[in-house]
Amino acid sequence: MKGYFIVFEGIDGSGKTTQAKLLAKWFRDNGYEVLLTKEPTDTEFGKLIRKLVLEGSIIDGSRISYEAEALLFAADRAEHVKKIILPALREGKIVICDRYLYSSLAYQWARGLDLEWLIKVNSFAPRADLVILLDLPITKSLERIRGRVIKTEFDKLVELQRKVRENYLKLAEMFPEIRVVDAMANIEDVHNNVVTLVKHELLGL
Ligand code: TYD
Repeated sequence: MKGYFIVFEGIDGSGKTTQAKLLAKWFRDNGYEVLLTKEPTDTEFGKLIRKLVLEGSIIDGSRISYEAEALLFAADRAEHVKKIILPALREGKIVICDRYLYSSLAYQWARGLDLEWLIKVNSFAPRADLVILLDLPITKSLERIRGRVIKTEFDKLVELQRKVRENYLKLAEMFPEIRVVDAMANIEDVHNNVVTLVKHELLGL
């Protein structure tokens, strides 16, 4: 059995984590071995990055540069690819990853970094077989994540989310493995659409 590498992408609140779990269950129920993973990773490295990003990338009281942030995400990814993703694919597992390379392209590009540079520093990372981009209007995403953010950060967040969504849609034009799925529907309908896509694109069903 051949391993497949499937990635979920989308802005915050688009439902990636829920859909990644549901797809993992669907594969397991159909007799496949699955590795469900995410970025930033659950390793000590990933936890550090998550902390830096979620706490506003503060080191010693000052903000770290967006370049440094991009390189930290890339370093976490390098470890993830080499030690977790590629070994699982070699064992024939289905690897489902909640955020990957494409998050760096969409978010760090939205921070104002050069897209070509981002592609270059991530060039060690193999492209996925299928990227499911859960697309959602910003107003809907904000409704879903409102409870998660503090008020003073909210306006900055709206602008960032808007840019990130735009970037993802531009990336979908550039990377043929990216498929856009409407994330407005209810959880079950989105899941069914994801399964249809996977069957059609990867399993030849
Ligand atoms: P996420 O896993 O969505 O956070 P949580 O599960 O804690 O809600 O990722 C944290 C943030 O990191 C998210 O806003 C997107 C951002 N991010 C990047 O900017 N670049 C990257 O390469 C990755 C993987 C994530």
